[in-house]
Amino acid sequence: MARPFYVTTPIYYVNARPHLGHAYTTIVADVAARFHTMRACDVYFLTGTDEHGDKVVRAAKKENMTPRNYVDTISRLFRELWPELGIKNSAFIRTTDSAHMSVVEQVLQKIYDAGDIYFAEYEGLYCFGCERFYTERELENGKCPDHETEPEVIKESNYFFKMSRYQDWLVDHIRNTPDFIRPQRYKNEALAFLKEPLEDLCISRPKSRLKWGITLPFDNNYVTYVWFDALLNYVSALGYPTGDLFETFWPASQHVVAKDILKPHGIYWPIMLKAAGIPIYKHLNVHGYCNIEDSKMSKSLGNVVEPIELKNIYGLDAFRFFLIRDMVFGLDSSFSEASLVQRINSDLANDLGNLFSRVLSMVHKYFDGVVPEVEPTVEAECELGLVANAQTAIADYEGFMESFQFHNALQAVWKFISEMNKYVDVTAPWELAKKKSSRKSLSVVIYNLLEGLRIISGLIYPVMPDTAAKMQKHLGLDPKMSFYHLDQLKTWKSMKPGTRLPKSTVLFPRVDPVEKAVDTTVGRQAADSRPEIKPEITLEEFGKIDLRVATVIHAERIPRAKKILKLEVDLGQKRTIVAGIAQNYTPEDLVGKQIIIVANLKPAKLMGIVSNGMLIAAVDDSGPTLAALDKPVDPGTPLR
Ligand code: MSP
Repeated sequence: MARPFYVTTPIYYVNARPHLGHAYTTIVADVAARFHTMRACDVYFLTGTDEHGDKVVRAAKKENMTPRNYVDTISRLFRELWPELGIKNSAFIRTTDSAHMSVVEQVLQKIYDAGDIYFAEYEGLYCFGCERFYTERELENGKCPDHETEPEVIKESNYFFKMSRYQDWLVDHIRNTPDFIRPQRYKNEALAFLKEPLEDLCISRPKSRLKWGITLPFDNNYVTYVWFDALLNYVSALGYPTGDLFETFWPASQHVVAKDILKPHGIYWPIMLKAAGIPIYKHLNVHGYCNIEDSKMSKSLGNVVEPIELKNIYGLDAFRFFLIRDMVFGLDSSFSEASLVQRINSDLANDLGNLFSRVLSMVHKYFDGVVPEVEPTVEAECELGLVANAQTAIADYEGFMESFQFHNALQAVWKFISEMNKYVDVTAPWELAKKKSSRKSLSVVIYNLLEGLRIISGLIYPVMPDTAAKMQKHLGLDPKMSFYHLDQLKTWKSMKPGTRLPKSTVLFPRVDPVEKAVDTTVGRQAADSRPEIKPEITLEEFGKIDLRVATVIHAERIPRAKKILKLEVDLGQKRTIVAGIAQNYTPEDLVGKQIIIVANLKPAKLMGIVSNGMLIAAVDDSGPTLAALDKPVDPGTPLR
């Protein structure tokens, strides 16, 4: 029977749209899932949305929506985004699903019946943002460390879960279970936390304060605390307490989360499982934070990055590669578009892309596009350690992937890519091709290079599935056969001599490291919508800016750039300008419209198109609104 593998992401709150941080975690889980399919495992991959609690009620109110309509809308955004990012989850759970709600009730009742839940009055410092009470010790300068707001004192009667009872057990479990929490730094963090006495967890909220939640099965006046509800998704999605899925996959469970939710996953969750008599999950894999150019991504800073925009501009595989290669799993990283472009150009276009097109063009040039024979007489002398290099790469890769060190796994693959490039340089097939007597050597060298490419195409599959498929198609591998299985990659000489290969293709076009073409952040305008008035200028200085009326003659979208339109305008002369207004305007809206442009702005290249001028628009939360005149005038009329 195939080995099971169960991987989960956190279920995301529906109080915000999906952003780069959510995309990173979900892509990591997808990479782990795909890697396990390469090992012929039986894989189950779960993601979903966390839909109860104060936060959601407040977010819904802000949008003038009922909680039900609101959660449906935002949950759909998450569900529909994942396939766009190449995510192949097996299921999508929502905490408002009735099956999930019923599991929460069952588990609560079970723990209550076992005597681990009690009723008591509590007065404490409550942070509404976090939806939890804080101890004085946990606050920073009297404020919630996450929200930087002062918590409010709240007194209420509530139900408490006797976590303290399980503290010693948990310490032993974390200490004695290899890699239970990994990487090590987070295991240490959890153990450090457990050095202090563990407080019991308040697991209810009175309905007088919050109705949007799961009613406690033993007291109709209370709903369940969101974390107690949410964590159970990992078992409810498998049909706990019965069912094949639960039986098969739960023993092989691995969670992926960021460091922000280490405590609920590393402390509350194992104790909940223990108290409910459910086996403890296998691994908690904790990663760091994706920051944006060194600051935390946040709505108020207006630097929230939309993953779909990056995918649309740079391509899905390049985007996935960048996240997995650039972020050291476990540590924080600083995202910047400049480093994304650099990686595309160096690792993808240069190292991998060049190797691929170099080798394939040689197959066409020297062997008429047909995989050559391996000549046994020269096989050994032409090999130059390439087979051993491939085997080392696969072994290192497998170990690193298994232990969630994805950046190291990719580094091992790129080490092999560089060895392949060196092999081309050292064997110099173009020299071999000059002499008839070297024909056999040429044949072996090219065959070895094709084998190397086959292995690379398999190893990159979890991170770049589309590129893997494209490479395999050009290597003449049958798409119906699975050439991604690790065992198959380990078998040298799997390419069939005599196979005719299609013409070469460019895997990754180079990206111009031009000015940032598209604003990939959302909410940046919100923060800047009414920035401070700029420093004073003189009339003379203002006079340098040549504002003109222009009539739009033609407008079109630009492939791969969602926010941008290319406009042909008339201002007495024809001009091309590129404008980031596609969010709010279609090409049809614009033709015939008179707009205002800065006519003497230095031309700039955006998305490979030279823009000769810039249009003027008011920009706020809803995006750009074009400046207009109240009656038509001649194109080219200046504004003074
Ligand atoms: N609903 C809870 C999780 C319940 S799981 C039983 C929650 N939701 S969340 O929407 O806030 O998601 C938090 C998770 O989103 C993080 O743990 C991480 O996986 C991902 N990220 C959100 N922002 C992130 C970054 N800036 N960087 C990396 N990942 C981040 O907490």
